[in-house]
Amino acid sequence: MNTRKYVFHVVNWVSRTFFASRLSFAHVQAFIHNNSWRKLFNLVRVHWDVWRGNVEAGSKPYICILEVTNVCNLKCPFCLTGKGISGGREVRHMTFEEAKQVIDDVYDSIYLLQLYTWGEPLLNKDFLRIVEYAKTKNIYIMLSTNATAMTPSYCDRLIASGIDYITVAIDGGSDETYEKYRVGGNYTKVLSNVRALLERREAAGVTHPFVEWQFIVFRHNEHEVESTEAMAYEIGINKFTPLPAYTEDESWLPQGEKYREAVFNPERLKNCERPWTHLNVRADGGIASCCYEFAKKDDFGELREDRFAGIWNNAFFRESRKLIFQHRKKRKMDPSSLICHQCLETGVRPSYVEVEDVPEDQLNPRRKRKAAKAAATGLNIPVQVSVADAGESRRAG
Ligand SMILES: C[S@@+](CC[C@H](N)C(=O)[O-])C[C@H]1O[C@@H](n2cnc3c(N)ncnc32)[C@H](O)[C@@H]1O
Ligand code: SF4
Repeated sequence: MNTRKYVFHVVNWVSRTFFASRLSFAHVQAFIHNNSWRKLFNLVRVHWDVWRGNVEAGSKPYICILEVTNVCNLKCPFCLTGKGISGGREVRHMTFEEAKQVIDDVYDSIYLLQLYTWGEPLLNKDFLRIVEYAKTKNIYIMLSTNATAMTPSYCDRLIASGIDYITVAIDGGSDETYEKYRVGGNYTKVLSNVRALLERREAAGVTHPFVEWQFIVFRHNEHEVESTEAMAYEIGINKFTPLPAYTEDESWLPQGEKYREAVFNPERLKNCERPWTHLNVRADGGIASCCYEFAKKDDFGELREDRFAGIWNNAFFRESRKLIFQHRKKRKMDPSSLICHQCLETGVRPSYVEVEDVPEDQLNPRRKRKAAKAAATGLNIPVQVSVADAGESRRAG
């Protein structure tokens, strides 16, 4: 267990130090196992387009994020979906046909397919069909789930689908602590589901999926991190990740400094490459600028009206690439109503900023800093950050 833990510490350090945390274990695996000359050539072209700041991309994305649903069965208090906020979108499951259309359009360039953004992916009855189809196209597939819907027979089908990486989001080591954030969930049940997944994997004699236990650290569960980590490795989890929490209420923040890590890093904004590297498709068919975008009004395109080829170099994508390049070169950005302009200008991630205005005296320190930064730009942006922000320290979308 210790060796595994230290290997991941080293991998994370390398990723943080040399790749601004944009390179994870999954990225490396996808590169090794799901490569082709065509993908490799495209990857080089993507970074050529990024480096040159080409507004018209000659390359295609190499990561695709399909939000297979924005429906959820839990009510996590700091998750916009958990709060019942839709961002102006239809709340629905993506159909198999819609997912297939996207996969058909980008499978030759993508290494990695992430099958979630907001919502609980396993509630989509077509989920396994989507995975099975994508697996025929040589793509690495990742999922984050609250693990509530993973019955033992479903676990067998998940394993058989060939899915590569599953993050189970379980923030606690007891009923009491777990259920404080995962409102509507049951710890005993999710733990038994995860055990079933690991046992069935063992019985099938396979090593996939790689299973990560993600533990969001709050004040009420910080005392359980170490014991839960030990237990997780004992039952066969591949990686245990204590994740700094995004909270809107300071009293939820852990007391230990270790897990209060400021995840907001303005430096990272300078390096935004997403309009060249990622394709983000939301459950309602909207094409989002990136996974931080939440509101429908900020979408760059509409899959139900156009195909990938007609969207990838449309006016929105071209404008966002231009803004990113101007920002990177420290030039004055052209005026723009695009969400990327706010994001680059203020360092406040775009999603949901309008969703809720929070009075200054209720902001936690991290959000106060963001508010101050936004105020300094003269933009009046209500500060509402997201769970996607909190996940930024370990992945990018
Ligand atoms: C919005 S969820 C959607 C996927 C799935 N329903 C789940 O919970 O894993 C995407 C990711 O955000 C994480 N997340 C939720 N609330 C968070 C918080 N307050 N701070 C940090 N990450 C959070 C989840 O654990 C998950 O990995
Ligand atoms: S974090 Fe995941 S499980 Fe919790 S409400 Fe949001 S989408 Fe649902």
